[in-house]
Amino acid sequence: MRILVTGVAGFIGSNTATLLVARGDSVVGVDNLSSGLASNVPAGVEFVEGDIADYELIRSLGIFDACIHFAGFIASGESMEIPEVYFANNVAATLEMLRALVDGGTGKVVFSSSAGVYGDVATLPIEEDAPTTPTSPYGESKLMIEQALRWFAQQGRLRAAALRYFNAAGGTSAHPEHHSQETHLIPLALAYANGDRDAFVLFGDDYPTSDGTCIRDYVHVLDLARAHILAIDALDNHNYLVCNLGTGRGFSNREVLDAVARVTGLTRQVATADRRPGDPAVLVASTARAERVLGWTAQHTQLDGIVADAWTAYQALAK
Ligand SMILES: NC(=O)c1ccc[n+]([C@@H]2O[C@H](COP(=O)([O-])OP(=O)(O)OC[C@H]3O[C@@H](n4cnc5c(N)ncnc54)[C@H](O)[C@@H]3O)[C@@H](O)[C@H]2O)c1
Repeated sequence: MRILVTGVAGFIGSNTATLLVARGDSVVGVDNLSSGLASNVPAGVEFVEGDIADYELIRSLGIFDACIHFAGFIASGESMEIPEVYFANNVAATLEMLRALVDGGTGKVVFSSSAGVYGDVATLPIEEDAPTTPTSPYGESKLMIEQALRWFAQQGRLRAAALRYFNAAGGTSAHPEHHSQETHLIPLALAYANGDRDAFVLFGDDYPTSDGTCIRDYVHVLDLARAHILAIDALDNHNYLVCNLGTGRGFSNREVLDAVARVTGLTRQVATADRRPGDPAVLVASTARAERVLGWTAQHTQLDGIVADAWTAYQALAK
């Protein structure tokens, strides 16, 4: 298949593109390098440095069997401070890209959505038909694109899958997790444990959870990559689908920090601060629909294993 991967220089895009190339797909990757690294683009990908908002550029790339759309800004905390930037890049730019894809005749889109579309949810684990009340502009930006895709699909303009990832984690030495402004717990904790950061702050220890810290569902990037390929195939039988991608098991921030200490053998004092605006207390996926519709379950389910892979990848990045 001929596949367009946007955000190919980022964490999840680069790992997914690697899998696509390995199975023999022809992969064109677009990235404006606003946060990704050119060195992260996998061998075998035809790389185009550019912006997804550039209609003419996307049209010039031709027709694809599918587009996997990872490009976007990803920090929900930052989106609370500069919502206009998040709506411009995640919504307006994506709509331009979708217009170019539809006009060019590309038939399928697999979209990186997020558990951030749910907000604070009363019933756990979270099923896909739970109410969507995002607590940040980031989550809202994902929901807006989901809604656009649902209309496009309903009107027969393209087929689309919105994959709502919970917390992407793990990594590979070739394509470690790296964000220009890191906000994710595991890479921050690894950097702190390794002495590469002076401070580490745990945001909120008064959540209504067993140890007072947020609970999240960590899903390995290689499991995410596999799910995208299954989603392309599933769109042969569906016009539009929404699936959670998680393990169905949550870990508190303190449990993650304990795992980081076990894996790295390094411990340092952790400071606590007030809750970060926009952070729900608990996000854990129901995995039933992904199992049923995609035939997908996460294979990496042990927290220490996920952290160990992230640690190996982190050390490769630090070299
Ligand atoms: N990492 C997670 O835990 C997580 C969870 C849920 C959803 N997601 C979504 O998955 C996607 C990928 O996440 P990631 O962790 O790989 O992020 P990332 O920052 O590593 O990758 C995103 C890539 O998109 C590129 N990009 C951003 N705006 C662009 C634009 N306008 N044109 C072209 N390229 C652009 C960046 O340079 C970067 O390489 C994002 O859409 C994110 O919202 C991630």
